[in-house]
Parts: sequence; structure tokens; C-alpha cells
Amino acid sequence: MARVLIAGCGYVGITLGIRLAADGHAVWGLRRRPARLPNPIYPIGADLRYPSSLRQIPSGIDFVFYTAAAERQDDASYQAIYVDGVQNLLTHLHVTGQQPKRCFFTSSTAVYAQAAGEWVDETSETRPQEFSRRRLLEGERLLLQDPFPATIVRMAGIYGPGRARLIDQVRRGEAVCYEGESRYTNRIHRDDCAGVLQHMMSLTSVESLYLGADHEPASQVTVLRWLAERLGAPAPRLEPGAPLAGGKRQGNKRCRNARLLQSGYVLRYPTFREGYEAILAAEGPRPP
Ligand SMILES: NC(=O)c1ccc[n+]([C@@H]2O[C@H](COP(=O)([O-])OP(=O)(O)OC[C@H]3O[C@@H](n4cnc5c(N)ncnc54)[C@H](OP(=O)(O)O)[C@@H]3O)[C@@H](O)[C@H]2O)c1
Repeated sequence: MARVLIAGCGYVGITLGIRLAADGHAVWGLRRRPARLPNPIYPIGADLRYPSSLRQIPSGIDFVFYTAAAERQDDASYQAIYVDGVQNLLTHLHVTGQQPKRCFFTSSTAVYAQAAGEWVDETSETRPQEFSRRRLLEGERLLLQDPFPATIVRMAGIYGPGRARLIDQVRRGEAVCYEGESRYTNRIHRDDCAGVLQHMMSLTSVESLYLGADHEPASQVTVLRWLAERLGAPAPRLEPGAPLAGGKRQGNKRCRNARLLQSGYVLRYPTFREGYEAILAAEGPRPP
């Protein structure tokens, strides 16, 4: 049985914590609003931005998962969570003499600036011009340069129960596609995010970097059209001209998950179809 700390225990962290607790591990979830943590996870109310609040972390932690997320899309929030928070936690673990076997960090495939539909993997170039990429890469570097063994998992867009905005857009007939836009999007279901992290904790040999994405990069148009058909809703509205700024920021790349698969992980939701199908099935029949 291992002692596990999940720092920033939210959407993915809670699912991970419940699974690890079911495997017999002792799991502590750290967040500012610990009352939101379910039973098998021991709550720690702390703020990663403030080193003094980390004193409540118990001793003898074997594995750390850093799954905290910035609350706003601005540089100060990214700096606070992906750089300062990581540094504060590492410093705390060192100062208190902890010796985790491995620290895992959920970074993002947003670190890739590729925008012409290229395939990217763990060896691809990252170009940190934007604050978001810069801060995520700084956080990754802090962990990789630290003496504690570390693994970074760059997750694609996370979706799942309660985070299926596209379903609501399609249902309301508000889904929009832009003529000529064929930008690739990459995603991973929440349960696979947690599954990947759980799997990695069980491995004896782990790489320092993985991409966490499903098998099928798909254009937004493909996903919206599939959802519309599945829901019997109107096809997404086609409008002229792609929104340049948004498209540029979101990039256009295809994430290759070969290294993840080589590690032995089997995706529960191989593509958006199985993932959205499961979300819809869990909703049950809707009133006519
Ligand atoms: N969402 C995506 O599409 C996506 C894509 C790629 C990578 N990721 C990464 O994947 C990881 C998991 O994502 P998620 O969706 O599960 O994240 P989330 O639920 O949005 O956030 C995780 C938790 O971080 C906690 N947190 C935020 N600021 C904190 C602070 N100062 N001190 C302590 N805890 C703090 C929040 O709880 P409190 O508010 O209670 O503190 C929240 O529950 C994150 O690292 C995220 O950056 C996400």
C-alpha cells in the first residue's frame, strides 16, 4: 500500500484518488476547498501558492500527482499554479525530508505550437512564445531538474461527465462550424486521464515524458457533426471564415499516443465516439 498525495485534487484528481483508494492506497487530496473531496480521499485544505499552508501534508508520501489547474487564462494564474505552486511543493517535500518514489505532473499538449496539422509526439519541438506554454514548460522543467524522479504527462483536451459543453451546444442548435476550417483537436476522456496516471504509478520502468491523448485527432466539424447525428439535432451551422485568433491560439496538430500505448495502457475510450456515447448513456433517457 502506498501513501499518495494528489495536489490540486479536482476533476481528474478525484477520479484518480477514488481509484487508488479502491486499490488499497492511502490517498490525500490537497485543494483550497477540501469539503468537495469525497470520502475515501483524506482532505487537506491548503493553497499551493502559500508554502506555510503545505505544513499539513503528512509524512512518508510515496507518490505525488500534481494535477492543479490555473483558475484563469492569464500569466499570473499560470505562474502561480504551474511554476510557483510546483516549486513550493518540491521545496516543502525536500525541507521535510520526504522521499517520494515519483512525482507526476499533468501538463498540456498546448505546449506545442504546431499549427499545420503536423503529428507531434514526445520528441517534437515546443516553442514557448505564449505565456501559457512558457509557464507549463517551466513547471515541467522544475520537476525534471529536481532530484526526485518525475514524469510529465501532457494531456490533450479533457472531457467527460459534467464537461461536455459540445453536447449542450449541439442540443441547443448553437453549434457552429466555419467554412474551410479543418483544424485538428485532440482529446482524452477524464477516466482515461485518471487511468493513465494510475497505470503509470504501477509501472516499474517509467519514461519522463508522455502524451496523454486518445487515438483519433479529429476536426471540430467531425465531432460536432457526429454529435448532431447521434442526438438527432440540427447539423452544426456553417458560417463563413474561420475565427483566426481562436484558431491560432488553439493550434492545429495531431497528438501521437504511441509511447503511452507502448507502456501497456489500453484506452477505455479510444475516440470521442466511445467517450461521448458513454456520457450520453449515463444521462439516461431524456423526457420527450
Ligand atoms: N482541462 C483540460 O482540458 C486540460 C488539458 C490539459 C491538461 N490539463 C491539466 O490536467 C490537470 C487536471 O485538470 P482538471 O480539469 O482535473 O483540473 P481542475 O479540476 O480544473 O483543477 C484541479 C484543482 O486544482 C485546485 N487548485 C487550483 N488552485 C489551487 C491552489 N492555489 N492551491 C491548491 N489547489 C488549487 C482546484 O481546487 P480548489 O479550487 O478547491 O483549490 C481544483 O479542484 C491540470 O493540471 C490541468 O492543468 C487540463
